[in-house]
Amino acid sequence: MAYALCVLIFFISLLQFALTENSFKNFQVQFRKKYVNNSELLLREQIFAKNLEQIEQHNARFRQGLVTYEMGVNKFSDLTSEEFQAFLRAKESPLPVQEKWLESTESPPDSIDWRELGAVTEVKDQGICGACWAFSATGTLEGLYQQKYGELLSFSEQQLLDCDSSAVGCNGGIVQYALQYVAESGLKIGEEYPYVQEKLTCQNTTNQTVKVYTKNYVGIPSYNETELKKAVGLIGPISVAFDANLIQHYTAGIFDGTNCTNNVNHAVLAVGYDIDKESNTSYWLLKNSWGLDWGEEGYFRMTFSEDGKGLCGIVRQSCYPDGIFNSKVIDDSDDSDDSGGSVTTSKPNAGNFISLNKWIALILGVLLKFNF
Ligand SMILES: *[C@@H]1O[C@H](CO)[C@@H](O)[C@H](O)[C@H]1NC(C)=O
Ligand SMILES: *[C@@H]1O[C@H](CO)[C@@H](O)[C@H](O)[C@H]1NC(C)=O
Ligand SMILES: *[C@@H]1O[C@H](CO)[C@@H](O)[C@H](O)[C@H]1NC(C)=O
Ligand SMILES: *[C@@H]1O[C@H](CO)[C@@H](O)[C@H](O)[C@H]1NC(C)=O
Ligand SMILES: *[C@@H]1O[C@H](CO)[C@@H](O)[C@H](O)[C@H]1NC(C)=O
Ligand SMILES: *[C@@H]1O[C@H](CO)[C@@H](O)[C@H](O)[C@H]1NC(C)=O
Repeated sequence: MAYALCVLIFFISLLQFALTENSFKNFQVQFRKKYVNNSELLLREQIFAKNLEQIEQHNARFRQGLVTYEMGVNKFSDLTSEEFQAFLRAKESPLPVQEKWLESTESPPDSIDWRELGAVTEVKDQGICGACWAFSATGTLEGLYQQKYGELLSFSEQQLLDCDSSAVGCNGGIVQYALQYVAESGLKIGEEYPYVQEKLTCQNTTNQTVKVYTKNYVGIPSYNETELKKAVGLIGPISVAFDANLIQHYTAGIFDGTNCTNNVNHAVLAVGYDIDKESNTSYWLLKNSWGLDWGEEGYFRMTFSEDGKGLCGIVRQSCYPDGIFNSKVIDDSDDSDDSGGSVTTSKPNAGNFISLNKWIALILGVLLKFNF
């Protein structure tokens, strides 16, 4: 009897070993990797082996409690770090940060998770296209739209990819510009303008249902983590960019930002923050756009900084839409009531309000256009 049990346990552990073994074969099967020829295959196998060594060394330190996050095999395990970095395509924004201080006297809650409040769509997958900036932009629009209109919609990254002329499609873009495009042209839902992982010709959306507009973007004061916490705690999911060079092998835990810089190259969405009870560390809860099979089911966590400036440049160019509207905002001179917190403003129609001056200008404009 004991013998049979032993044999059974032996086979179960053998099976577990086979399933969890980090072999290149398993990796290829799991992530459906196909290589063009044999030399490419050999090259990828070598890179994979090197990465695996790094992952195992890191995880040994993790088990000793020396680091706070785990590494593992994921879809990027056959890339060199240079190749991975080339895939990260958020650009540094040349736009003014447009600092806006939240004048709210409210303090943000100790913790928040906008997923629990229904303001976050499913994790999406940008695929091989460097469109993180578009996913970060839709993320903050989706969250704030849900807060204002009570409906969670998934907006179109493809429209941003095709139509935001300030971006270079899959070779990168800037969330602030994307939000300015949405101020000008509005954005459709993803179902009506679906994601195809490459930049195509911009579709004319003139006769179509455009779901969301904003007025502009609001920038969080640079390098002020307290201000980012206020925005995430009181407004909703906020777009953030950071230096992602070192998260290639991240699989779980709280990324501690060791060795990263403030040179941002990847845009994601801050959907909350909390304190890890075991280690008493505050962390950001970040939604990535690399599919459900990356990180903690598509998400990752990163510690707050000790100096309050944010790690890896995470508060360098954070932003969110300046108001959420379902029709184009013509007036932007009259927004005194409309701080970034406009999503929670008590005047929901503020965006549709057109001042007398603007009416006069509009009528004059029409008259002039038709040469009356
Ligand atoms: C294999 O594919 C790689 C990548 O496309 C290419 O650079 C290389 O020349 C190919 N090698 C052979 C032997 O065909
Ligand atoms: C889109 O179509 C409308 C009318 O159908 C036209 O007036 C407009 O110029 C078009 N826009 C672009 C960018 O082609
Ligand atoms: C928009 O609708 C008008 C009138 O129905 C039509 O003439 C025009 O071609 C449409 N434009 C586009 C871009 O579909
Ligand atoms: C961040 O902004 C707050 C105002 O909300 C200010 O009191 C604080 O000094 C700023 N912190 C840093 C690190 O600049
Ligand atoms: C940080 O950089 C140092 C020096 O280059 C290196 O020894 C160390 O392994 C790096 N740590 C991580 C987590 O990348
Ligand atoms: C947790 O950290 C905070 C600030 O870093 C500190 O004030 C607090 O005393 C710590 N709590 C525990 C239980 O260690």
